[in-house]
Amino acid sequence: MKMNSNIRPDSMERITTKELADAFIDEQIALIREQVGDKKVLLALSGGVDSSVVAALLIKAVGKQLVCVHVNHGLMRKGESEQVIEVFRNQLDANLIYIDATDRFLDLLAGVDEPEKKRKIIGGEFIKVFDEEASKLEGISFLAQGTIYPDILESDGVKAHHNVGGLPEDMQFELCEPIKLLYKDEVRVVGKALGLPSSMVDRQPFPGPGLGVRCLGAITRDRLHALREADAILREEFDLCGLAGKVWQYFIAVPDFKSVGVRDSKRYEGWPAIIRAVNTTDAMTATIEEIPYEVLHKITNRITAEVEGINRVLLDLTPKPVGTIEWE
Ligand code: XMP
Repeated sequence: MKMNSNIRPDSMERITTKELADAFIDEQIALIREQVGDKKVLLALSGGVDSSVVAALLIKAVGKQLVCVHVNHGLMRKGESEQVIEVFRNQLDANLIYIDATDRFLDLLAGVDEPEKKRKIIGGEFIKVFDEEASKLEGISFLAQGTIYPDILESDGVKAHHNVGGLPEDMQFELCEPIKLLYKDEVRVVGKALGLPSSMVDRQPFPGPGLGVRCLGAITRDRLHALREADAILREEFDLCGLAGKVWQYFIAVPDFKSVGVRDSKRYEGWPAIIRAVNTTDAMTATIEEIPYEVLHKITNRITAEVEGINRVLLDLTPKPVGTIEWE
């Protein structure tokens, strides 16, 4: 099975087991070594499923010839960048360059409240940061990408659509796209076979612009911090009650208005945290997941007690259509 075509052959078996995944991995390792030789490969490693699996595959195939660049745009969920560093640098001994570009992104986003403008700024700045880093490196011949088969079916095959991972068109690298014929479920099976943690391989979809489109309106650092903390509590509680494995996408959005509340017998003005938990197969339509009231109460109690700046918790009951999954 050669992977140099963009068309998945009918004969290609769906990868559903560890055995099939191992066979795919062995085959890809040979192909990658053949393609790359002793040259260097660059990869933008977001920590999402696709780029993580490509990184793990390339580390197996060419080790330190792979240079991973992880750009923290300051809009990651709690603990995400730390996990990328822990798994790839500490556990897999990868050649990982970590760039904390939080200030660059948040400074550019200050005062910008229009959703598409926010997306453009985040996408554009990501390319700039990555490009700057790439130009500092010498002897890179290949650019690895976590393109998967639905990306090829839906677009021109380059992971630019919707994704912060869209890279400069004028980069003079040859592409290395080892999972481009795989469907998402297969990528997860391969990721597990490669030994990546479940928290990385089974994670819910997360938009490229990250928390940037959930910190509604013009992003401020204090509200972004509150959103990140509240989102972490929601994820923890969904893990605990088993909903994490059942719900397709779940998150918190925090709008930019406050309401009156009371805390410690004093007036306490705060933002509301809005819970969104949806199920879908293709993200074109979505239904609402029913969350048991006791879970909702626990989440509400924790968020309002533990998160500075939040004084109410609301539940979004709107299916798609008419509500999109994200608020922005
Ligand atoms: P909507 O909000 O359009 O979301 O119902 C459908 C799916 O797409 C994700 N989404 C994005 N992903 N960049 C991304 O990479 C974006 O700008 C973006 N906007 C929405 C959303 O999280 C959901 O899974």
